[in-house]
Amino acid sequence: MRTDIVHPGAGELKYEIRAIVARAKEVEARGTPITWENIGDPVAKGEHPPEWLRDIVASAAREGATFAYSPTQGLDATREYIARERNLEGGIQITKNDILFYNGLGDSIAHLYGNLHPKARVIGPDPSYPTHSSHEAAHANAPHITYALDPTRGWEPDLVDLEAKLNAHPDIAGIVIINPDNPTGFVYPPETLRAIVALAKKYNLFIISDEIYSNLAYPDSRMQKLASVIGDVPGLALRGISKEFPWPGARCGWVEFYNRDKDENFNRYAQSLIEAKMLEVCSTTLPQYVIPTVMSAPRYYPYLAERIARYDERSRYAHQELSTVPGLIIHKARGAFYMSAVFMPARDDKKFVYDLLESTGVCVVPLSSGFNSRLTGFRFTLLEPNQATFEKTIATLKAAASVREHI
Ligand SMILES: Cc1ncc(COP(=O)(O)O)c(C=O)c1O
Repeated sequence: MRTDIVHPGAGELKYEIRAIVARAKEVEARGTPITWENIGDPVAKGEHPPEWLRDIVASAAREGATFAYSPTQGLDATREYIARERNLEGGIQITKNDILFYNGLGDSIAHLYGNLHPKARVIGPDPSYPTHSSHEAAHANAPHITYALDPTRGWEPDLVDLEAKLNAHPDIAGIVIINPDNPTGFVYPPETLRAIVALAKKYNLFIISDEIYSNLAYPDSRMQKLASVIGDVPGLALRGISKEFPWPGARCGWVEFYNRDKDENFNRYAQSLIEAKMLEVCSTTLPQYVIPTVMSAPRYYPYLAERIARYDERSRYAHQELSTVPGLIIHKARGAFYMSAVFMPARDDKKFVYDLLESTGVCVVPLSSGFNSRLTGFRFTLLEPNQATFEKTIATLKAAASVREHI
């Protein structure tokens, strides 16, 4: 090319969760069956949405309207439903105009960072879900700035580290939290959330709260959404149906803007996201269309509660088994369907993961390269519906982690 056509931040786009699939396919071709523990897709793992939910989708697909474009921000009735439900939970009150639909949260995250001022940075957790850390890094053409989640304190964020980074980097304009968290299964306690909001207020920042798993928090987790604690700080929450329904193939998620009226610069940023979406016309219509019917069905929350109970149970089992391995730190998940085990002292986690894949077919993700982390370890999921298979996978992880040859 007579001029370089590669974006300077292109090298920051890494997604080990899927990159490892190529290697796993090679191992599979050589005759070892793969236990897919890398991707958080409940449907691919055999957790199909219930019949009643699929019936709602099927009858919606028979209506001509679901084949049409929707309004740029999303269907009015759906946004009204979401705003009403949000407002009933207390905390900040929103209207349908504060909601913007995307083709999944992956799409929304790309837009959130892609439309930020090139010099504005957003600090995120370490370990982090790579779609946030990579897009932020690519937008800034610089490594993602992180605050530590502390595995020695149950994955609590290190707020001293966070404040030190806010002081060291005056270009930080926002803080991202993932609650419940991927990859740790951590749920931010309300007092920690309030402390983060207080820091945002003190330093005049906005908050991004990725709440894709918020309806999959476990009963004793004390889960609270950002909306309940945000007060007058500008922020946005990300929600979606990929994990809840679960319907990841629908590519449907949305942003809720909070306190646009409290900060003109934040308001302009929100408006720029809406204008950018207008250039794409709109997001997928059919999944938006069914959201109010599915979520208001009397069976919906009991159905989620059943799934949550199973994740909680598996999390306890995995913790009981893996917490006895010397040199491994692990905590029970409090929400979502992931757990991360940390090597303490550090080990070569990429080698551990690839050796594990070659020798056993169990495909997990290394923390260091997979989740932009200073830590080494691995993430696995709590999605395996077959109890015997799940227990066998945990036994395999336990045996592999107990072997010290990777140090
Ligand atoms: C924390 C988090 N945010 C966003 C996403 C993306 O979800 P979507 O399917 O809506 O793109 C995921 C998917 O795993 C996730 O774990």
